[in-house]
Amino acid sequence: MTSHLKKVELHCHLEGAAPPALTKSQALKYGVDTHDFLRDGIYVWDDFAAFLQCYDKVSEVFRTEEDYALLTETYLEELASIGTIYSELIVSPDHGDRIGLGANAYIAGVCAGIRAAKAKTGIEARLIITGERHFGPASVVAAAEYAARSDNPLITGFNLAGEERMGRVADYARAFDIAREAGLGLTIHAGEVCGAFSVADALDVVRPSRIGHGVRAIEDIDLVARLADLGTVLEVCPGSNIALSVFPDFQSHPLRKLREAGVRVTLNSDDPPFFHTSLEREYDLASSAFGFGDDEINAMTRTAIEAAFVDEETRRRLMARL
Ligand code: ADE
Ligand code: ZN
Repeated sequence: MTSHLKKVELHCHLEGAAPPALTKSQALKYGVDTHDFLRDGIYVWDDFAAFLQCYDKVSEVFRTEEDYALLTETYLEELASIGTIYSELIVSPDHGDRIGLGANAYIAGVCAGIRAAKAKTGIEARLIITGERHFGPASVVAAAEYAARSDNPLITGFNLAGEERMGRVADYARAFDIAREAGLGLTIHAGEVCGAFSVADALDVVRPSRIGHGVRAIEDIDLVARLADLGTVLEVCPGSNIALSVFPDFQSHPLRKLREAGVRVTLNSDDPPFFHTSLEREYDLASSAFGFGDDEINAMTRTAIEAAFVDEETRRRLMARL
């Protein structure tokens, strides 16, 4: 049990955190038939491509500023209830554009949810704008331009998610140049569905301070050493990796090997209800499946605060709360 430990999460997709019961009530409100993607309270998908489709279907039942405020507040209050003091949410304002809500209203709803959760629980949160590979490089550039021109102080990072098998990192380099130039923190999904080459591409092209997943770097021992030398922080999501069959079981998962090789690692839930997990379960698994003690788990939480996309004063306050 890790219920006594303070927690931090750097990698969770906002729509990916939608509890099935909330998705169901939203679907009823908009008259959406959920049979294809949500049955008996369980999200329905059977491989990575189907997961991404399911994720997009769930996103489609969140349509207004109020819907986004409710989703955000619901997730952050759940996090706060398990001792989480800081959360970075991966968000897609271009989803707001696609559904006709508009990117600004989408972000305004999310920020209202952040403020409500903070007022009730004290949880601190920031937003990482993401592009999705499967919507193509132009949409990813548009997401970066949106993030770069925003003066919203809660938007502090830029990410690339979606279908990792689509294109190479170099195809998305311009988006990262725009985000870097704007002073945003950079992270990128790599080494999840694709192998070590994808992590090497990310380091070569993006030079991010963090990588989403990155766990398949384990396939190349020189690359693991490079990650350790650079101090790149991995946002590791073990439950997600097992659910998506990146590794067959926790025994084969490289979290412990990466940490022992000097790679800086953190614990995250990715899209918790899709993968039958939660941040609480990820922390519990660190203890029960990976055998880490409280001191080692706290060190990962400290690494997450060190790597958080926040100003130094906020970082200092978070460290003091650990
Ligand atoms: N979008 C939501 N979850 C994702 C994941 N695990 N990998 C890539 N893109 C995602
Ligand atoms: Zn992710």
